Amino acid sequence: MVRAPEYHERTKHATSDFPNPDLELDFETMPRPFKSFRDRPGESLPGVRAPVLPALSVVAETDADPLDGTDQTVRDPVDAVTVASLCYYAAGIKAESAHPADEVAHPMYYRTASCTGNLHHADAYVVCADLDGLDAGVYHFDPKTFSLDVLREGDYRGALADAAGPGAGVGDAPVTVAVTSEWWRNAWKYRERTYRHAFWDSGTVLANLLGTAHAFDLPASVVTGFDDRSVADLLGVAPETEAPLELVSVGRGASVGDSSASESPAVDPVEPETVSHPDHDRSHDLPHEAWAESTLSDGESATAWRDRVREAGPVGSVSPGDGERVPLDPVDYETEVARPLWNAIRRRRSCREFADEPLSRRKLGTVLDRATRGVPGDWNAGDASSLRFNDVYVLATDVEDVPDGSYQFHPDEGALERLGDATSRDQTRLALGQEWAGDAHVNVYCMTDVDAVVEKAGDRGYRLAQLEAGVVLGRFYLATYAHRPLGGTGLTFFDDEVTEFLSPRAESQTSTTLFVLGVAGD
Ligand SMILES: Cc1cc2nc3c(=O)[nH]c(=O)nc-3n(C[C@H](O)[C@H](O)[C@H](O)COP(=O)(O)O)c2cc1C
Repeated sequence: MVRAPEYHERTKHATSDFPNPDLELDFETMPRPFKSFRDRPGESLPGVRAPVLPALSVVAETDADPLDGTDQTVRDPVDAVTVASLCYYAAGIKAESAHPADEVAHPMYYRTASCTGNLHHADAYVVCADLDGLDAGVYHFDPKTFSLDVLREGDYRGALADAAGPGAGVGDAPVTVAVTSEWWRNAWKYRERTYRHAFWDSGTVLANLLGTAHAFDLPASVVTGFDDRSVADLLGVAPETEAPLELVSVGRGASVGDSSASESPAVDPVEPETVSHPDHDRSHDLPHEAWAESTLSDGESATAWRDRVREAGPVGSVSPGDGERVPLDPVDYETEVARPLWNAIRRRRSCREFADEPLSRRKLGTVLDRATRGVPGDWNAGDASSLRFNDVYVLATDVEDVPDGSYQFHPDEGALERLGDATSRDQTRLALGQEWAGDAHVNVYCMTDVDAVVEKAGDRGYRLAQLEAGVVLGRFYLATYAHRPLGGTGLTFFDDEVTEFLSPRAESQTSTTLFVLGVAGD
């Protein structure tokens, strides 16, 4: 077992770690890109309905229910097409090409949400009531065949509601999507860092999932407090290899108690047979250890933990200072670009070439404003007006009317507070020497105080801080690609160097995620 602060410390990137010949990729042990079952019937999914609301509006949705405070009472029905659309826009395949490594026989698949190394270890499972076109059941989403693998037949939402405990909202939702990480599919390349990646990479999936649900006017909220092992049992996964990370409840008004089978069937053990990955060294067990150290044992402890986190309020952040302010002047909702979410998702990619042109201050302001709202989740009881666990810092080196420098972003003021100087060389150096950081000109770091988070929210709070930053990263992708000329990518960084660069303001903090953006050149 490993405690979260120790895990974080042990998995930092230091300049002395590179180059490391041990990090050569071994294609003989490369995992399969998808989980596929040998013994499960498949349920084909119908075509999808495109989420047509503007990407910029839906990524900024802070209410679990987007209709709260409006006069609208009509919603899209939750049916098989809704489920297909949620699965596709959150975790579907949108393109493929020949794999660049000669050793690899399968194509390179590009997915709707971004993932470290394009390794896509986060899988989606659907637990639903009887819907038009889809029977009640527990399903695994298979992006390759665009179908659902049937794991259990019947309405098991009660079991999920029990695992999440009272107050989580799961028992009222017709559909809950559970997201897992199959550790090895990422650990093959990233080893012990996979536990961090699990929350970043499920975070980008959740950004798309929440956005799609909200674009359909459906309530959707992230549930992070639940009895992990009960959820793993329900999904038929063994946490040593694949562990549940989050639940997202979608829709409301379909109370488990109202369904014809008001009591969930018993959760008998299932051990579905899957196509195995090539033989490999199984010694990278820190991700599972850190996960196991932060589990909850039943619904009551989930509720108690959730109450504790809600009561703690914002944690991990530092107070603004009185440094010089640079107003960003984001555009308002009436004049923002109206590119629909489906189109921003399809355009989204990790930009590999930036034009040497300045970024407009207002565009930067708009992307920052929309991408850094809070995330509706059980930890904030629907009050998601701002981030709870992360501060946002910006290194800007070529933005119109913004002097080059390092800044803390203050969302409530819509302004940057100047902290110090920054050059594109600094940007590249901090981002593991990856030149895209300096070429892009704008680098956005999420930062948290791990000790403070763990003190208030336990080791499970570490999951929350990384997850929040992952969702923000996913929202940055979408808000960036809502603008035609812009491009961006997630990147990784030298942890302690980033803290040092942003100190003294950030001296108690450590970076969770990095997104870089600028004018796309390719
Ligand atoms: C959290 C996160 C961190 C990433 N870090 C890096 C990185 O350090 N270097 C890099 O080249 N790409 C990085 N990427 C980009 C992924 O490699 C890229 O998203 C993946 O290959 C899929 O491509 P796509 O985003 O175009 O779908 C990162 C992506 C994410 C989500």
